[in-house]
Amino acid sequence: MRREKPLDTRVLARLRTEHRRVLRGVSRLERALHGGGGGAVRTLHAFTALLARPFLEHLATEERDTFPRLARAFPELGGTLARLIEEHVELRAMVADLHAQLARPSSADRDERLFVLGSDLAELLRLHIHVEEQAAFAWIERLLPHARRRRPGSTPATH
Ligand SMILES: [Fe+2]
Ligand SMILES: [Fe+2]
Repeated sequence: MRREKPLDTRVLARLRTEHRRVLRGVSRLERALHGGGGGAVRTLHAFTALLARPFLEHLATEERDTFPRLARAFPELGGTLARLIEEHVELRAMVADLHAQLARPSSADRDERLFVLGSDLAELLRLHIHVEEQAAFAWIERLLPHARRRRPGSTPATH
């Protein structure tokens, strides 16, 4: 039987750092959307920069490495992981839509669409990261080498 390659703790740490960075951007975006106008459009431009290539690589790392590892170790997480993957599809589509809307000439109609999209994206990102941290990454801690030396704790949540 093929032995599982040990989990690279640096990858997990990087994913968590990226979550915090995105959540800070989400908070900035929510404040700017509350104010509306040109400030909100400028913040949306900055937000797309935050969701550029490294963010897409973040999603790909989770799909290629983190989620399959979790699925093999904890089959009961199947439903949660399927939901997270569906949300990745949704997130990629929303980011692409955001780029497309920002490329259009400015108009009241475009700005209104942008603000709705920005607010939906902020909401989904908050929820997605929360579920990922609480219901998926909390389980992966058990695969870390030091986990065996810890006293068993309560069962992490499933969503
Ligand atoms: Fe994710
Ligand atoms: Fe993530």
